Amino acid sequence: MALTIEEKLIIKQVSFDKLIKLLKEKTGLNLDYYRRTFILRRLKARMIRVACTDLDKYNTFLLSDKEELRKFVESFNINYTYFFRDWEVYATFQNLFLKSLNYDDEIFINRLRPNQPLNDEKMPKRKINLEQPIKYHETLFSNLEKLSLYRKIKSKRSVNPPIYVWSCACASGEEPYSLAILLNNLKHHFPKFPKCEVIASDIDTFTIEDAKRAIYGEESIRNVSEYYLNKHFRLNNTPQGMKYHLSNDIKKSITLVNEDITKIRTHPWKFDVIFCRNLLIYFNIENRNKFLRIIEKQLSEGGLLILGKTESLFNTHGRLKIIDPTNHIYINTSSNETFT
Ligand SMILES: C[S@@+](CC[C@H](N)C(=O)[O-])C[C@H]1O[C@@H](n2cnc3c(N)ncnc32)[C@H](O)[C@@H]1O
Repeated sequence: MALTIEEKLIIKQVSFDKLIKLLKEKTGLNLDYYRRTFILRRLKARMIRVACTDLDKYNTFLLSDKEELRKFVESFNINYTYFFRDWEVYATFQNLFLKSLNYDDEIFINRLRPNQPLNDEKMPKRKINLEQPIKYHETLFSNLEKLSLYRKIKSKRSVNPPIYVWSCACASGEEPYSLAILLNNLKHHFPKFPKCEVIASDIDTFTIEDAKRAIYGEESIRNVSEYYLNKHFRLNNTPQGMKYHLSNDIKKSITLVNEDITKIRTHPWKFDVIFCRNLLIYFNIENRNKFLRIIEKQLSEGGLLILGKTESLFNTHGRLKIIDPTNHIYINTSSNETFT
C-alpha cells in the first residue's frame, strides 16, 4: 500500500532535538515544555506545506529563512489572542474593584460591553448573549475581604503599595492592554483609586516586539466596545492597510518583559492578580506542575490566579483554591481556609 504524505516524512530523534535547540536559540520558544504530539502535528503540517520531507533539511531551511521561522512559530497558534477575550472575565475583574470601592453602577459594564456578539471560531459552541446582565460568582464576592487587592484598596496607610497585576504569557499585548484600559478608566472616575502596575511577559521575542508596537488589525479589536475604541485607538493607514494604533498613555502604562515563565522570577514584589490564560493547555504535566509552583510563589496570600476558559486545576492545587468556577479564578491561600 502506498504511503501517505505524512508517513513519508523523515523525522529522526536527533533532528527533532536539533529543531528544539534551534527554536530555543533563535526565538526563545522552548518546546521542551510542550506535549510531543502537539509539536509533531504542527511540525508535520509545516513540512508538508513547504514540501520538505526530511526534518534535517527543514532545519537548514528554517535557519536560512526568517519568514519560515516566523510562520513555524505562528503555526503553533499559541500567540492567538485579542482584546477583551472572554469579556465577562474582565467584567468580573472590574467588579472586584468596584465592589471594594463600594460602588454599584452599570456604567462601567456598559463601557466594557462589546457591540457585536462575538463569533469566536476557536470556541464555536459558546454563545454569549450581550444583552444579558453579567452574573457574578457568589463565592468570589462573598470572600472579598480575603483578597489582597481588597486589603490594599481598604488600607488606611498614607502611602499604599501598588496593586500588582501580571499578564503572564501576554502574546502581542492585547490582554495586558485590555487590563490597562480598564484600570485607566477606573482611575479617572475614582480620585482615590490605588496605583496599579501591570507587568506583561512572554517567552516569544517576536510577539513582545509586536506588543511594543501596539498596532492591531480588525481581528484583535473585534471585542472592544465602541466607547473604548473611540477613546484609546486611532485608525491609521500603514503599509499593511488600515490598522488600529493604541494610544500612547495606555502603551506607556504597562511594562513588557521577554521571559520564560518556567524560570524562577526575581521580582521583589508579589502579585495580587495573575492572568495566565491559554498557556497551561500547551504544557506537559511536568512543566505544568513546575509552572504552578512558580505561580504559587509569585502570588500574594489572597492573590488571584485567572486561567483560560478551557483550563482547570480542578477544585484545588496546593494552596490554590477555586473561587469562581465559571471564570476559572483561583485564590492563593496559605491555610486550610474554606470559601463559602
Ligand atoms: C495563546 S497565547 C495567550 C495570550 C493571552 N494570555 C490570551 O489568553 O489571550 C500563549 C502565549 O504563551 C507564550 N508562552 C509559551 N510558553 C511560554 C513560557 N514558557 N513562558 C512564557 N510565555 C510562554 C506564547 O509565546 C504565547 O504568546
